[in-house]
Amino acid sequence: MSHDAITSLLKESRKFEPPAEFARKARISSREAYDALYRESLDNPESFWRRETKDLVFRTPWTETLEWNLPHAKWFLGATLNITESCLDRHLSTPVRNKAAIIWEGEYGETRTLTYAQLHRETLLLADALAKLGVEKGDRVAIYMGMVPEVAVAMLACARLGAVHTVIFGGFAADAIRDRVHDSQAKVVITQDGGYRRGNVLELKSTVDKALAQPQAKSVQKTIVLRHLGDKCPVQMTEGRDVWWHDIVDPNGHATREATIVDAEHPLFILYTSGSTGKPKGVLHTTAGYLAGVHVTSKYVFDLQDDDVYWCTADVGWVTGHSYIVYGPLSNGATCLMYEGAPNFPDWGRFWRLIERHRVTILYTAPTAIRAFMRQGDEWPKKSDLSSLRLLGSVGEPINPEAWIWYHQNIGGGRCPVVDTWWQTETGAILMTTVPGASASKPGSTGLPMFGVVPDVVTKEGQSVGANQGGMLVLRKPWPSMMRTVWGDDERFRRTYFSDVEGCYFTGDGARRDEDGYFWVVGRIDDVLNVAGHRIGTAEIESTLVSHPAVAEAAAVGRPDDLKGQALVVFVSLRPGFTAGDALANELGNHVGKEIGKFAKPDNIRFADSLPKTRSGKIMRRLLKDVAAGRETTGDTSTLEDLSVLAKLRTSDE
Ligand code: WTA
Repeated sequence: MSHDAITSLLKESRKFEPPAEFARKARISSREAYDALYRESLDNPESFWRRETKDLVFRTPWTETLEWNLPHAKWFLGATLNITESCLDRHLSTPVRNKAAIIWEGEYGETRTLTYAQLHRETLLLADALAKLGVEKGDRVAIYMGMVPEVAVAMLACARLGAVHTVIFGGFAADAIRDRVHDSQAKVVITQDGGYRRGNVLELKSTVDKALAQPQAKSVQKTIVLRHLGDKCPVQMTEGRDVWWHDIVDPNGHATREATIVDAEHPLFILYTSGSTGKPKGVLHTTAGYLAGVHVTSKYVFDLQDDDVYWCTADVGWVTGHSYIVYGPLSNGATCLMYEGAPNFPDWGRFWRLIERHRVTILYTAPTAIRAFMRQGDEWPKKSDLSSLRLLGSVGEPINPEAWIWYHQNIGGGRCPVVDTWWQTETGAILMTTVPGASASKPGSTGLPMFGVVPDVVTKEGQSVGANQGGMLVLRKPWPSMMRTVWGDDERFRRTYFSDVEGCYFTGDGARRDEDGYFWVVGRIDDVLNVAGHRIGTAEIESTLVSHPAVAEAAAVGRPDDLKGQALVVFVSLRPGFTAGDALANELGNHVGKEIGKFAKPDNIRFADSLPKTRSGKIMRRLLKDVAAGRETTGDTSTLEDLSVLAKLRTSDE
């Protein structure tokens, strides 16, 4: 986040009260009502969670709410369940049975709708097919797909069997798939021939082939391939390993696959996320606590009502898609819009036409998208009728007040509350938010804590700081949807989240709390970048660059960027015999694109004879950040050679 943006967040004092019309019908319709629920969630979690989960299906009820053995939490001990019964089966005996669960629109405008009854049937048929292929409770299944309804079917089918899914974002490259498959020891991969992205064919199956050709991916026994593009994306099927979805799922079959009943703490999914070291972390979420967290937050944060058409624009490959396209909304019987393609295909009016066409009432998107739309001008949203909208949401990074105001005015017509929701892959569900109907929105603030959540802003020693003082954002108490461990590396779990501030979970974010108790998150303070809402570990980029034969050393830093929040800038020094220049810069960019994925390609690659270091040999990131941002530097900043001189001067000044 840029300095200007932080300064403007500090000065921001506008406040938008919940519109009376909205509050009148809202699930939580006053500040007092929110305060009472919040207090109850802390003082009497047992009664709070029993009441708030009464619609969910537990085969046996829990006997103990929480067992907390820092850093390990177990929630709802003794409960048994299958999450798909809460998301699907429970609706079959109600009118929700025939309500749309997923309304899908492809990039070329074709649509498909799956009712709850249909989604249930598809899920059971695929679960049955997976079971016949040998997938059992606890097995890991990797899912590498685009935004098609079958990606939700695939996740739910795994859950039906008690198998653990690990969804890999469709933008990841073959080597990233290989690493995730290897780390999770996935037995099966579910993929599709290809998908559309901005009019281009994104080949998914052939990328899986490249990943599975490597010895590290030998755990995979079967690949299931959905035919989505057909002739537009021919694929090679490997005999004995690859099967077509339509060959194993019989549309005329009997959808009778019983749910495998699991313990509350049975693993539901692993989702890999960037951390401050090179290797992605497998964030593990379990069943009952995760379900409770996403169910309650979907209902209250989005104020879900029976007739809403809810649209979360995230990709299912990120946690937002897991919690707020699949499990949260479905457990509430909501209708979700799912869109396959790009926001600007064929032009910048696409999102707004989607809203008009499907009469979307709730839109949940990311600041980077809002800023991109804002840049294209107000004409685009004006071309569509957006009057169906009643609530707007934001997630993924701090939203600058200018973008907030534009969103509120131009998309929400000034009448829709904007909920700014703060959370992480690790937290599973929204932990801080504006509570629509109950609390005023302040542009740029993520509002108040959700139920059972105790955030605090502290010093390194764990002392709470005063109002409007900056500090580290921590969580003082466990919450139901928290991650349980790093898959296969519990020590890393403890070290990453519970070693910085004693007794607390450290989020990696910096924040302040204002005089009204509202939280203002300013961004990461560890070595993780947030580029266009994608979490990118600097160490991951650096180790990828160093794996290229030309590179001796690399340092990746963020530079403030109006559109993406942060842009990725890398500094590299070369091995003898290699020449700096555009050709090599291009090659290194492609190398990162190939190893990690195109979304992680550096925005700027700079060459240096050596990187500036402290006497103890640590790369001086702070200096490099200034250089990347063009701050406090004098003279020519185009080559780092000059700057390493500058760095040396600075250290000798100290
Ligand atoms: C950032 C995405 C400010 C934050 C759900 C966090 C935010 C990281 C917000 C997690 C917000 C997310 N305001 N910052 N409303 N939401 N962040 O794991 O730095 O992809 O730690 O989860 O995004 O990113 P992740």
